[in-house]
Amino acid sequence: MCGIIGYTGRGDALSRVTAGLCALEYRGYDSAGAAFFCGGDVNVIKTAGRIAELIKLTKEIDSSPNCAIGHTRWATHGAPTKTNAHPHKYGRVTLVHNGIIENHAELKAAVGAHPISETDSEIAAACIDAIFSECGDPLLSVRRACDGFSGSFAIGVMFDCFPGMIYAAKNKSPLIVGISKSGNYIASDVAAIISETDTYIELCDGDVCMISPDRCVIIDKRSEEVKRSAAVANVVADDIGLCGYDHFMKKEIAQEPEAIRKTLLRRMSDGAVSFCGDGLSDEYLSGIEKLTVVACGTAYHAGLWAKHYIEKTCRIPVDVVIASEYIYGDPLTRSGDTVIFISQSGETADTLSALELASSRGAMTIAVVNVKTSSIARRADVAVFTEAGPEIAVASTKAYTVQCAVMTALGARIAYAKGILDTHGLRSVSRALTGDLCDAINDVIAREAGISAAAKRYHKSDDVYFIGRGADVCACLEASLKLKEISYVHSEAYAAGELKHGTISLITDGTPVIALVGDEKTSDKMMNAIREVAARGADVFAVCRRDFPRDEAIKTRFELPACSDDVLAIAAQTVFQLFAYHTAKLRGCDVDKPRNLAKSVTVE
Ligand code: M6R
Repeated sequence: MCGIIGYTGRGDALSRVTAGLCALEYRGYDSAGAAFFCGGDVNVIKTAGRIAELIKLTKEIDSSPNCAIGHTRWATHGAPTKTNAHPHKYGRVTLVHNGIIENHAELKAAVGAHPISETDSEIAAACIDAIFSECGDPLLSVRRACDGFSGSFAIGVMFDCFPGMIYAAKNKSPLIVGISKSGNYIASDVAAIISETDTYIELCDGDVCMISPDRCVIIDKRSEEVKRSAAVANVVADDIGLCGYDHFMKKEIAQEPEAIRKTLLRRMSDGAVSFCGDGLSDEYLSGIEKLTVVACGTAYHAGLWAKHYIEKTCRIPVDVVIASEYIYGDPLTRSGDTVIFISQSGETADTLSALELASSRGAMTIAVVNVKTSSIARRADVAVFTEAGPEIAVASTKAYTVQCAVMTALGARIAYAKGILDTHGLRSVSRALTGDLCDAINDVIAREAGISAAAKRYHKSDDVYFIGRGADVCACLEASLKLKEISYVHSEAYAAGELKHGTISLITDGTPVIALVGDEKTSDKMMNAIREVAARGADVFAVCRRDFPRDEAIKTRFELPACSDDVLAIAAQTVFQLFAYHTAKLRGCDVDKPRNLAKSVTVE
């Protein structure tokens, strides 16, 4: 989603702002812009293109401003044009915004604004300008204007007559203040400032602040000055650099085994995984009689995997709901229920709203989340952190694998708490996750050449079908999403038994069908499905167990590593991630920044 950065201090502000925008590129954007003080006025430059275009524009500026704000826009209100790009200047106010001001139409009428763009953000600038005309105080103008905004927002503001000052506010969208020796920053996240400083202040919802080169003043909802403590980011420049890889996606796939181990080994006691340290005692877990899992996209698929594993192991019902459906579906959540929210970013607006709804109904909320400082981590009753490290590529890979591993471990611990698994059983699942699974993923990565060869065979196809059974269906759904999002190939995933109920009519000569056969129990049925599609001309790529028979219906074969059946479908996902990666590369797609997508979807 949109990225915000601002700097005021010694040295060139514009180069810091554009460097910060480059670091925020991973969030996804379609236009970019910056504003800076020059000769006592605020000047704006923007482009409907990439940040490289913006950097070219900054080279044409002959001064070296030391206060600037910058923005990457992911269009919500209005097309991705130069006019709609941020910053927006209205009267004496220049503003960048991430989020949605839901009541922009009423606000526009109330202040009689005449915007030139189609954005809600320009209306926000008009509101601040109108209030500033009355009170003349920039901090209070931002405060009062924000009090009238509904929706989620993080904003950065400059006033014509206050050079060297940046004002900022946030509600439900992330925003931090960065503190460095040369000056101060505002930013959407730490990645934007980490090359300059690791010290930052996390703003709370409702905060409004002013930064100057050597000061940071924060006021809360009651307009009272508050102190927020500074933190040191545990991100190092390597975490957000390519480190020799061509793409972040490739680097992040390679990090999967390390991320799983890092997440689970710290929860291991006497060879068995435990969530006591997270605040989930065995006593609590033993009382869980049903679970609801809520998430979006890839995290939702991790939820489907969890359903499969937990229902099988704990024999309790698990509902998995897409967050945006949960919010508006009047869910049956009641006081005493346990609802788990899975999110990499911890900022996904749909998931956050769902969490608030579940909380308001008295449910115990558990977040399985990768970003410790995120809104979802803060709002949940219990946060179980995944230790995947920063995930920069828009396509989620290592975060998914770790989410699946954590949910498996949690399921095993629930089964243990309920007396279904004994210590030996729990230790064996723990070993399968931290040993077998990691080795299997490394084995898949070592045989990447076989996967890229398959991508070469299939990359020109416009429609691809994934089929599987049981847990393999969850993996197929995620495989299909990955292929769609980065290679723009239309693809669908089906339970193999469903094909004959409709979809098989789409299979014609040469249609690629990718069959995942990880589940031993249904191997025979999968062979039947493979023969059925092959008989109708399908070009079948089997990603299968080693013991799956060879058959002339299978044109391409990739054997899964020997691995505990409990976790094989998780390891299979690495095959599909690499398949999507190579397909996207062969099709000339921007692997890490696919069109129209944002890394963290902070609007509903
Ligand atoms: O940050 P979250 O895990 O909450 O994000 C949820 C989805 O937006 C995300 O998984 C999305 O589907 C990814 N681009 C998939 O690769």
